[in-house]
Amino acid sequence: MEEWLLYVIIAAVVVLASSWFLRPTKAAPVKAPVAGVKAEKAAAATKPKKEFYTAEEVAQHSSGDDCWIIIEDKVYDVTSYVNEHPGGDAILNNAGGDSTTGFLGDQHPIERVREMIEEFYIGKLQK
Ligand code: HEM
Repeated sequence: MEEWLLYVIIAAVVVLASSWFLRPTKAAPVKAPVAGVKAEKAAAATKPKKEFYTAEEVAQHSSGDDCWIIIEDKVYDVTSYVNEHPGGDAILNNAGGDSTTGFLGDQHPIERVREMIEEFYIGKLQK
């Protein structure tokens, strides 16, 4: 092979290789906000501002992504806490209904959970 042809091939390989290494890379993706913070903000934004709720209204919120519970005639929107609950889906046993018995069960250190639940209070149960 002609010597000059060899140089041309080597030069071509060097150019191709360096253009591969110097190619523009994708910009780092913008970090999504932490899910919990997002859920809290969403909950705060949609927090209903009524004094009383009927049992029928509470019953409309009976799923893992929209969960209200009644404890001692008070209504709590615990939606943002469902995925953080150390007791898992047990919090959904009476979603949309009266959860007093479950909440006051032996599994809970009662002083602590009584403080925690106040964050989720939205109103009283209409009797
Ligand atoms: C409403 C019905 C609820 C039921 C049936 C329920 C059930 C349970 C169960 C079975 C556990 C034990 C988990 C384990 O040790 O493996 C647990 C733990 C816990 N739950 Fe609930 N839960 C309910 C609501 C709530 C609510 C509304 C809160 C707070 C706002 C809460 C806070 C906690 C905490 C902090 C623990 C960990 C306790 C500890 O071991 O220190 N729970 N729950």
